[in-house]
Amino acid sequence: MSRQPKTIYACSSCGSQSPKWLGRCPDCNEWNTFVEETLAPAVPAAAGAKHPTLTGGASHAQRIDEVDITVAERIPSGIGEFDRVLGGGIVPGSLVLIGGEPGIGKSTLLLQAAAHFANARGSVLYASGEESEHQIKARGERLGVGAGPLYLLSETCLERILEEIDRLKPSLVIIDSIQTVFSLKLPSAPGSVGQVRQAATELLFAAKGRNVPVMLVGHVTKDGSLAGPKVLEHVVDTVLYFEGQRHHAHRAVRAVKNRFGAVSELGVFEMTGAGLRAVPNPSAVFLAERQAGAPGSAVLCCVEGSRPLLVEVQALVSTTTFGYAKRLTNGVDGNRLSMLLAVLDKRAGINLAGEDVFVNIAGGLTVDEPPADLAVLAAVTSSVRNRPLREYTAVFGEVGLAGEVRGASQAALRVREAAQMGFRRCVVPDGNVTPDDVPAAIELVPVRAVGEALDELIA
Ligand code: TYD
Ligand code: MG
Repeated sequence: MSRQPKTIYACSSCGSQSPKWLGRCPDCNEWNTFVEETLAPAVPAAAGAKHPTLTGGASHAQRIDEVDITVAERIPSGIGEFDRVLGGGIVPGSLVLIGGEPGIGKSTLLLQAAAHFANARGSVLYASGEESEHQIKARGERLGVGAGPLYLLSETCLERILEEIDRLKPSLVIIDSIQTVFSLKLPSAPGSVGQVRQAATELLFAAKGRNVPVMLVGHVTKDGSLAGPKVLEHVVDTVLYFEGQRHHAHRAVRAVKNRFGAVSELGVFEMTGAGLRAVPNPSAVFLAERQAGAPGSAVLCCVEGSRPLLVEVQALVSTTTFGYAKRLTNGVDGNRLSMLLAVLDKRAGINLAGEDVFVNIAGGLTVDEPPADLAVLAAVTSSVRNRPLREYTAVFGEVGLAGEVRGASQAALRVREAAQMGFRRCVVPDGNVTPDDVPAAIELVPVRAVGEALDELIA
């Protein structure tokens, strides 16, 4: 009779261990972080040398001047916007995690990338624990994927998937989703924290050891963060996240973490009858339904990763009818809004203590950079005064607690994008950008303080 493997419980946040499950970690005080773990048998000494290293590098120490720095080749996925978020293409041996709400388009995007890859680079393994081969094929027909060597596997057992990787030697592996995969080595159910961690770690070894890129689909929890242990995000090289709402046609994919490229890089797609299509000019899409001349609407020049983008910030201020004044935001940080409203009160004399304030970024995008401040305040003030912003005017700038307007990075890039989209005036932090750097067609209005900015912005 085989003995049950010995298990312990470990905190997925700080690593503290306990022989029994605990609701709250006594060391880091986090709730619900204890996960079951099997104590693995000790690795025999001889196996250590053959064990693949996590980074796929040499297993002995090397002098820094002896390290070979030939730049890792990047393989284009065939989808330009997807390559942009990845930092220029898929890096061999990298582990990529793609998260997002159900139905947002994760499987669609990866199937499209897999098909392109199979046509251009050879065999691709698409392992799905969520859909049967028939379902995936039916989706593939809709997407018009060609007849490349794309192998579909409807399987949830990690060991079987690894066997197929060994057999097919694919040039790309897709796992849809990591939460459905389970390892026979652990007794816990698929989707449990221990299983997700085990699967991700074994797939990491598979990716690094065979130098094949592996893409994982990850589910999200109700509050929108990736389900599973925090270590999952530490283990992978790149974390991409789908933003936007299922009900909108437009989807944005953002790099939240990227060991091989800029974070915050954004790819914009449109969901069509034939899958996701890259959007060539996202600023035009985000401004498409804007009603110029309506109070409470400001145009912000933001920078996402390396790309400038114009988005519409909308605000609505209405009298509180019951209880506390509400502050609701969609796409901007709620705490930041509270701070900005305090600055507006103290430095510009606009008190909104008895008013509900709603702020929204049109198109479902999230903007978390401080240069959005001035646009938020402009939209709020425009709604309070019920007067629109001046025509053809765009804005950016961070607002400090003293009411001062602070500079933003890549200011000239922002102004150029506004000029390209047909804006004629841009309200900018004083000294942040010189007229020599930007097209003559756009007038720069430098401002130093929030009151001055609002006077320049609101008609
Ligand atoms: P899907 O990729 O299945 O989402 P996820 O894997 O993130 O759960 O996305 C499916 C949604 O997209 C579904 O609601 C149908 C829609 N869709 C289209 O509009 N056009 C298409 O060509 C495809 C394949 C899906
Ligand atoms: Mg799916």
